[in-house]
Amino acid sequence: MPSQNSANIALRSIKKTFGETTVIPDLSADVEEGAFTVILGPSGCGKSTLLNMIAGLEDVSSGTIHIGEREVQNLPPNERGLAMVFQNYALYPHMSVGDNIGYSLKIAGVPKADRAKRVAEAARFVSLSDYLDRRPGQLSGGQRQRVAIARAIVREPAVLLFDEPLSNLDAKLRHGMRMELADLHKRIRATSVFVTHDQVEAMTLADRIMILNSGRVEQYATPHEIYHRPASTFVAEFIGAPPMNLLDVVGDGQALKLSDGTQIADVTHLGAATLGIRPEHVSLAADGIPARVTYSEDLGSHAVLLVELPNGSSLRVATQLGQPVTDQTNLNLRFKTEHLHLFDIETGLTLNKADS
Ligand SMILES: Nc1ncnc2c1ncn2[C@@H]1O[C@H](COP(=O)(O)OP(=O)(O)OP(=O)(O)O)[C@@H](O)[C@H]1O
Ligand SMILES: [Mg+2]
Repeated sequence: MPSQNSANIALRSIKKTFGETTVIPDLSADVEEGAFTVILGPSGCGKSTLLNMIAGLEDVSSGTIHIGEREVQNLPPNERGLAMVFQNYALYPHMSVGDNIGYSLKIAGVPKADRAKRVAEAARFVSLSDYLDRRPGQLSGGQRQRVAIARAIVREPAVLLFDEPLSNLDAKLRHGMRMELADLHKRIRATSVFVTHDQVEAMTLADRIMILNSGRVEQYATPHEIYHRPASTFVAEFIGAPPMNLLDVVGDGQALKLSDGTQIADVTHLGAATLGIRPEHVSLAADGIPARVTYSEDLGSHAVLLVELPNGSSLRVATQLGQPVTDQTNLNLRFKTEHLHLFDIETGLTLNKADS
């Protein structure tokens, strides 16, 4: 199993409509061989639809899908060389863990001895070797999800597809499973496409994140790029907790100002723009922009403050104050210039130079 084959995926001009409704208008993207790609986006943006089209569970309305050298969009799922893990992992309750894992091999007519060897190996990969004789009902949620993963990898697919596989688990288990998945991927290196609407899963698991908005790719880049150079206000607000602040500003060529003329940063932009700044990039400075705390949350390691700026707009600030802040406290803030983002006020697309 460590020498699993792997293949790139090429999506070309993929369109998907359900009756009158267009879910994916025109999507082209490449998933690199062996990479862990996460498809991230809000509910209903078309993540599962896209994954299901790659899997063959859903037809494309038009466009082509290649897995490796093969054009697959007209092939049935079992001829595409992939395996899928769902949120709802639906194990056979009356079968042992071992039989659940090996079921697809049995169907495929793999001889018993070979099957047992592969099941043992897959179980070892997900640390379930001691549980092969149990029934799914005798396992924890996380262990059941590992059975579902073992069931997928036992077939040694070139491509592994995951649709929100961790959503049913509690926060602690999710964290553990996330680390296990990352580790598993390092070991087997099958091309993996993982759908989630959880930005933490995306940031921690992905080599590249594809951010979908109404069936369109907003940005497809490494987690670092997505976080530090969001391509649009949509991406900027979708990634980061609390999310990036967006403020309407006007530049006079020397400085950016709020609607009431308050100067907030020395940036040579001319005209209206949307300014983006993450809560953690706003600092306290005696000579900074005056602001008043309207709400504060002390999270132990840091505090998140909601503050009001002189023109009435609000801003989130993440800060390690060291002492409690009460509402109505007056502060002075500075925006770290190197962390400012500018977006087109109409399109929401970034105005930052690609190399900035
Ligand atoms: N069989 C169908 N017939 C009609 N519309 C559908 C069908 N399946 C999905 N849709 C619509 O397509 C859109 C995308 O659905 P999809 O399941 O891909 O979203 P998603 O991004 O996976 O969302 P979630 O995060 O909630 O799982 C939704 O608006 C949904 O209502
Ligand atoms: Mg979905």
